[in-house]
Amino acid sequence: MKEKQIICGFSKLDKDQKLDYISGYFENQEDFIKELKSFYHEDEKKQKIFDEFSENTISNFYFPYGIAPNFLIDGNIQHVPLVIEESSVVAAASKSAKFWSNKGGFHTEIISTKKIGQVHFIWHGNFDKLKTLLPDLKDRMIERTSEITANMVARGGGIADIELVDMTHEIPDYYQVKATFETVDSMGANFINSCLEEFAQELKEFFTESPYFKDEERNCEVIMSILSNYTPECLVKVSVECDIDDLDEIDEDLSGDEFAWKFEKAVQIAKVDTYRATTHNKGIFNGIDAVALATGNDFRAIEACGHTYAARDGKYQSLTDVEVKDGKFKYWLTIPLAMGTVGGLTTLHPLAKTSLELLGNPGATELMRIAASVGLANNFGAIKSLVTKGIQKGHMKMHLLNILNQLNATTEEKNKTKIYFEDKKVSYSAVENYLIKLRTPIEASKVVYVNK
Ligand code: MEV
Repeated sequence: MKEKQIICGFSKLDKDQKLDYISGYFENQEDFIKELKSFYHEDEKKQKIFDEFSENTISNFYFPYGIAPNFLIDGNIQHVPLVIEESSVVAAASKSAKFWSNKGGFHTEIISTKKIGQVHFIWHGNFDKLKTLLPDLKDRMIERTSEITANMVARGGGIADIELVDMTHEIPDYYQVKATFETVDSMGANFINSCLEEFAQELKEFFTESPYFKDEERNCEVIMSILSNYTPECLVKVSVECDIDDLDEIDEDLSGDEFAWKFEKAVQIAKVDTYRATTHNKGIFNGIDAVALATGNDFRAIEACGHTYAARDGKYQSLTDVEVKDGKFKYWLTIPLAMGTVGGLTTLHPLAKTSLELLGNPGATELMRIAASVGLANNFGAIKSLVTKGIQKGHMKMHLLNILNQLNATTEEKNKTKIYFEDKKVSYSAVENYLIKLRTPIEASKVVYVNK
């Protein structure tokens, strides 16, 4: 086995050479290569698409692609594709979707779809003077980017606003160009970043060319130009509502009133306690990330934004809210979701394309509504379990197959184990012990024939 060293020129190797090189770190090189190759797509054209998504690709990493059916969203039924490895997420989303489907379903509202980008610059001068020149600077920036924005404008988007922000109270001489964009059905990262880089050039030229600036004021040091993944204005709200009596059916040991009371307390706890809020919101992102992955969206951007939004008041807290009042249970999620349905992986990844087709080729705002509904459904499912039978029962039931696979169970063993554990607590050791028993041949001396 090779010792690990700094590698120079790895990216220049072809795929087989890379595979071969990395195999040197394994005890059995041939097995490693065979294992990785076993995940190659049989269709070479498709494999090439996957290879080219990223640098230094040597294989594919499979995740389950599942369906959470029966989401009634604004009166339309959606069967939502989810890509996630955590065994209980699809089941929880599906169960919640079904529960709400005969109670009016999910109701959504798009609050806004604006996105933000910034040019961060250092400049020593009179900001009041600069502000009076903003209309001129803005015109120049819009003119300079007209080629880049033409298509977006034709689709109803483009640059919505350009402002100057004084940040000198934080860092001496630090200012921003803060631009607001409308990117219609695309997530718009490339579009925004291309515009921002042009803005930065124009800003520098503006300072050097404008007769209003002299000497030191002509120097502007652009530090960076980049979109912000914090999009508090790209916001969707999704809500569900039912009579408290409708909650009677949830748990045999709790009345609807008792369930609603416990549920409300659980949400309140996630409002005041950061430790709980983080896990609570993680459950929301279980669903949202799974939709993002299935549709080729950037789930890291979506998560980063959601968590920042959850801390917008200076304290990290639950993204969902509940109101139990006048016999009604109202429960909602407000979340920024910068999603796209054109461009990027959405059209390149064959399954992302298929996911969007299954969803009826939605626009970005439609996809925001769908993802938010799944997020709310997963949060509902999690809290429902937590305040009733606990999370582990369902979770471990779903995890049973993973345990069986880890223990190399055969199909027959799996079937027997599933039946055996129907009314028992699943744990790794309990399953292992059961399998040991199942696999141990019974000694002939211990068998008694009562009817030979
Ligand atoms: C597990 O992936 C998610 C939960 O922990 C969420 C929650 O606690 O609300 C069940």
